[in-house]
Amino acid sequence: MNFRKFRGRKRPNRENWFGFNYAQSKGTVAAFNEFLTEEEFHRIVELGTGKGELSIVFALYTIIRGGTFYTFDCKQARIAKEVLPRLGVSYKILDIFNSEKEISRLISDRGRVLLLCDNGNKPREFNTFAKYLKLGDVIMSHDYVPSPKFPGNGEICNADVEESMAKYHLEFSHQSLFNPLSWLCVRKCL
Ligand SMILES: C[S@@+](CC[C@H](N)C(=O)[O-])C[C@H]1O[C@@H](n2cnc3c(N)ncnc32)[C@H](O)[C@@H]1O
Repeated sequence: MNFRKFRGRKRPNRENWFGFNYAQSKGTVAAFNEFLTEEEFHRIVELGTGKGELSIVFALYTIIRGGTFYTFDCKQARIAKEVLPRLGVSYKILDIFNSEKEISRLISDRGRVLLLCDNGNKPREFNTFAKYLKLGDVIMSHDYVPSPKFPGNGEICNADVEESMAKYHLEFSHQSLFNPLSWLCVRKCL
């Protein structure tokens, strides 16, 4: 495979690894490394693979630490299709809102789960799947701002999730690590 075809021009304040541009702020990979070094998950489920930038990081975690990584997207990306199977990733093309049963089973089955929401409708995604979390599971959502008044391109804020958080006993977690990178991180605590 010729990896040079995946090279992109570096963008300021964006992650770029081996010339591969990420749709993530600089520092995101280091933050996930810190988080996943201290936390143990049996399954990581990513909703919204994109080109598979972050998927590579989660794949490495499961290769090194064990567990299984699943990633879903409604559109197939060339780089994800070529790279992720080589890392043993389960990469499936489907619409997550038409596949609630399959995804909910991955969340509610035995074993601690990290669920990452990064698709086109973050509030809907969070509120659809939060109900399946078990004690200790973590749900994260990208493009987060605490309130719509915050600067930046927020797609999900506290008001979007407060009802689910109260109903399903979810608490904010790792805010100082993830909030500056536009990730919401919430843990099921009861
Ligand atoms: C921002 S990208 C994901 C980026 C990726 N998580 C990363 O940073 O490495 C969002 C992805 O969500 C996908 N998407 C949007 N709506 C979806 C749906 N209903 N079901 C599955 N995937 C969806 C899009 O095709 C797109 O690839």
